Amino acid sequence: MAYAKTFISTLMSAISNCSLYSKDHISVDNLTKKSIAILTELLTHKDSIEIMIVEDNLVINKTPERNAGHHGSNLIKRLKRKGISRIDFLRDISYSELKQFIADLSDPDEKLKTYPHIKTGIVNVRIVGDNMASDLRNLSSEQVEKVKELYQNISPYKELNISGLEEIVVNFIVTFKREANILKLISPVKAYSEYTYTHATNVAILSMFQAESLGARDDLLHDIGIAALLHDVGKLFISKDILEKTGKLDKKEWEEIKLHSLQGARYLAKTDGLTQLAAVAAFEHHLRYDCKGYPQLNAGGKEQHFCSQIIATSDFFDALRSRRPYKRDWQVQEIIALMRENAGSEFNPFLVDNFSRTLLKADSSLSGNIRLDIFKKATYHFQGL
Ligand SMILES: [Fe+2]
Ligand SMILES: [Fe+2]
Repeated sequence: MAYAKTFISTLMSAISNCSLYSKDHISVDNLTKKSIAILTELLTHKDSIEIMIVEDNLVINKTPERNAGHHGSNLIKRLKRKGISRIDFLRDISYSELKQFIADLSDPDEKLKTYPHIKTGIVNVRIVGDNMASDLRNLSSEQVEKVKELYQNISPYKELNISGLEEIVVNFIVTFKREANILKLISPVKAYSEYTYTHATNVAILSMFQAESLGARDDLLHDIGIAALLHDVGKLFISKDILEKTGKLDKKEWEEIKLHSLQGARYLAKTDGLTQLAAVAAFEHHLRYDCKGYPQLNAGGKEQHFCSQIIATSDFFDALRSRRPYKRDWQVQEIIALMRENAGSEFNPFLVDNFSRTLLKADSSLSGNIRLDIFKKATYHFQGL
């Protein structure tokens, strides 16, 4: 992403020089050539480079760029003046079209045109209030609303609509990077009917928080967020009478509840364009670190994926923290103590240690290199069931 930052500063220098001198000035020429060279390099492995403004943050390829400096703020100002909050630079962009784009952006009176390999538009993310710092808890409830809409549209009888998923996840990242105490972002469950999507939101925020603290970035961080949002989607296939039963479940009912992992995984595996991790995590989130959980189908000899372990840790934390008809809400310290007791059997001990230390705001002693190594195995394939 550092290279993308270089692109932003080169592009902004070209735009500034263009307003200062003219489109045909030699410095504009050189900076445009340099911008094209960087873009071509960036587009070697991607079809497009996407720059968005989300709540006054520059988000490059779905990753908030916190240190874009004055070039970043200038770009935000210029784009806002033109009424746009998103630019996609596509592969095969030419020198002449980028130069025209630079000239149009630099002139306050000039309207943006149509460029074959530059798409401009607005970001469809609901912005909540101007004063972000005033109440992050409210912002979080707005985000829960978006997850609620997503869940309301899920049906076993139709394909999952994944549009909007990426934006929900990007919004989560922007939010949790602004808030030092992640627990402030975890929404309380006020009514039973809210549990499904409130829990999904909380598990996604907690999982991305853990993953980020361990060095996950870019696509992997998004994949984990999306997988966490959908980890319990299989519950929508289970009878409401069983899910909402306040008394003790009998053996048959319990067996039906346990099917949600498998049913969720099958449903997600069939969804085009969705990260494979979503199906893997839905299948494995109750498997446990020692693989003694469920489902046991085909589970012999395999291990729970590291990303599923992250989601399982968040899942347990949020489930205990929420007050439900049949249980009280637990205090953070109590949950952490129980997680520590089960580290090595139910949970990955390394994750429990990292989760509790980052959650309780203690310093992490992990070095940068170790962090990156953890995700080396971050490939995931869901074999059909
Ligand atoms: Fe579950
Ligand atoms: Fe869950």
